[in-house]
Amino acid sequence: MRVLDVSHLRVEFGTEDGRIFAVKDVSFTLGRGEILALVGESGCGKSTVAMSIPRLLGDSNVTIGGSVRLNGADLSSLNEKEMQAVRGKDISVVFQEPMTSLNPAYTIGNQIAEVIRQHQKLSRQAAKARAIELLELVGIPDAARRLGAFPHELSGGMRQRVMIAIAVACDPQVLIADEPTTALDVTIQAGILDIFRRLRDTLGTSIILITHDLGVVADIADRVAIMYAGRIVELCSAQDVFSLPSHPYTRGLLGALPARAVMQGGRRRLTDIPGFVPPPTTDPDECQFAPRCPRATAECIIRRPALELVAAEHEVACYHPGPGDTP
Ligand SMILES: Nc1ncnc2c1ncn2[C@@H]1O[C@H](COP(=O)(O)OP(=O)(O)O)[C@@H](O)[C@H]1O
Ligand SMILES: [Mg+2]
Repeated sequence: MRVLDVSHLRVEFGTEDGRIFAVKDVSFTLGRGEILALVGESGCGKSTVAMSIPRLLGDSNVTIGGSVRLNGADLSSLNEKEMQAVRGKDISVVFQEPMTSLNPAYTIGNQIAEVIRQHQKLSRQAAKARAIELLELVGIPDAARRLGAFPHELSGGMRQRVMIAIAVACDPQVLIADEPTTALDVTIQAGILDIFRRLRDTLGTSIILITHDLGVVADIADRVAIMYAGRIVELCSAQDVFSLPSHPYTRGLLGALPARAVMQGGRRRLTDIPGFVPPPTTDPDECQFAPRCPRATAECIIRRPALELVAAEHEVACYHPGPGDTP
């Protein structure tokens, strides 16, 4: 069953220097209890996708096109008040550097209880009990006592756990986590990934996990969307991305990764591919990876390749998909 259906999402920012085409036609679905990884180099539009789903790009200089459906209902038809009810309750976001960071002046118990009471009619006492439950769910030891702690008394990893507890306080159907482990060290990362797995397994939460880290993908994702210059260029199962990477960009990302290290959960960053990411100031009708692509032909810059099936549930936007490095 589809929980989320993102269709032809486009996001443009109007800036003093002109238009920025941050997301240029992104479509994907998310099933119940599914973990979808969104992967790509910095600037390819991952965070913009993450923010536009719960309509957190409030700026008047933003133009958003396409649709986002939650259980079939188009979110663009909701007014801001209805949207506020959706945020947190149905769709929740965890940031790497939390915009909605913890308030240093309040205990974490207060901050969690406040979120619970915003969305649910619970007594103070019941909200407190629920806060303890949530801290236990995200693996914070001695939860009852930790309720009285202030954010500065917690480590970075513990603070991120608290942010996740707040994000899942109202059992959202969809959790969007934007590079939630990037700032954390490896053992702490593994603990955070365990929490996502537990949420999926116990509550059936559907998760969009944005990451730079192919080790994270191998570890936890069911499906992967590889983004390049504001578009998805490959969309497939996490297994296929390692065993059958078909877009030259995906193959480039995997290039310097020893496959076994990845599959064993070794943590590596994406590799550097020669050349530059194109500026987001244009949206030409061509494959924007062509200038960096070992397989590019004249065709690639005449017309943009659309996403097409190359195998079951495996889509690639390329005229020359498949293994090998030459057309
Ligand atoms: N508020 C904004 N105003 C103008 N440009 C923006 C804004 N937010 C993001 N961008 C631009 O949109 C593009 C995509 O950014 P982003 O979604 O943050 O990428 P990622 O998360 O993949 O690194 C980048 O070129 C970025 O500079
Ligand atoms: Mg980002």
